[in-house]
Amino acid sequence: MSFDHFEYKGVRFGVTVHTEESLNYAENEFEVLDDDVFNVTYPKSGTNWMIEILNLIKYEGDTTVNQCVPIYERSPWYETLGFRELQQKLTQPRIISSHLPQQLFAKSFFKSKAKIIYTMRNPKDVIVSLFHFTKILYIYKDAENFEEFLNDFINGNALYGSWFEHIKGWMQMKDDSRFFYITYEELLKDPRGSVVRLCKFLGKKLDDAQIDSVVKHSSFSSMKENKMSNWTQMPSEVLDHTKGSFLRKGISGDWKNHFTVAQNEYFDKVYQEKMKDLNMSFFWEKQ
Ligand code: A3P
Repeated sequence: MSFDHFEYKGVRFGVTVHTEESLNYAENEFEVLDDDVFNVTYPKSGTNWMIEILNLIKYEGDTTVNQCVPIYERSPWYETLGFRELQQKLTQPRIISSHLPQQLFAKSFFKSKAKIIYTMRNPKDVIVSLFHFTKILYIYKDAENFEEFLNDFINGNALYGSWFEHIKGWMQMKDDSRFFYITYEELLKDPRGSVVRLCKFLGKKLDDAQIDSVVKHSSFSSMKENKMSNWTQMPSEVLDHTKGSFLRKGISGDWKNHFTVAQNEYFDKVYQEKMKDLNMSFFWEKQ
């Protein structure tokens, strides 16, 4: 997985997406407000899906904002270059995205009453989604073969570092009342139940019709049709629309079409080793 990068406190970040200064701002200077809601993920785990859901919940199922503001401006990534400009346009409660690992997260969060929603996805599907994404996002060099890509992912040679460390870092907060975690697979299996749980966590009282609207307008097909959510407004220098779509398949288990039997066995072995100190089991492990 090849991209122009630099290291900040041992984690890889992308030249032109981040700078040492933007990361320092995110970690040490950004002022978290008590009603902020953070949408935190490792890349390709359902970040944009959650942006859509959280914004629809914020507006009680009303789709006006989701239909007229591009998704990456509705809930921008606060560690990236350009965030400060977008920050001015955010209305409270702000819904802010981030891919930062826990150890680099805004220090002011830990003194606030703000909330975090952390979405995780089967790492095998994360790898596949990322593999395809590298073919369209400008910062990545053309993806090498899948085997090399898989090894880079396993070794943490990826934008935002190791998936394993990301999960283990954030799961340290799993019992904190300001922290809510969910998986992509749960969202797929039970979108309505997931929205109801999210509303409860956020203290939002939506009626049945409003919840239905959130579910309907955050579905894969609705987002794919919504030009403010499907990333087609992103200039072609940033995203090469001729080589694929941001909203690619939106399913669970596509890894089965990419991993060989040997790669799958190897990954399972590595997974067990790296995750053994985390006393938790995840939805995807039972699939
Ligand atoms: P695939 O590449 O497997 O299709 P992120 O937003 O973190 O970059 O994650 C992108 C992945 O989430 C892509 O996965 C994309 O298709 C999927 N996705 C986005 N919106 C979705 C939705 N409403 N339902 C299901 N999957 C969705």
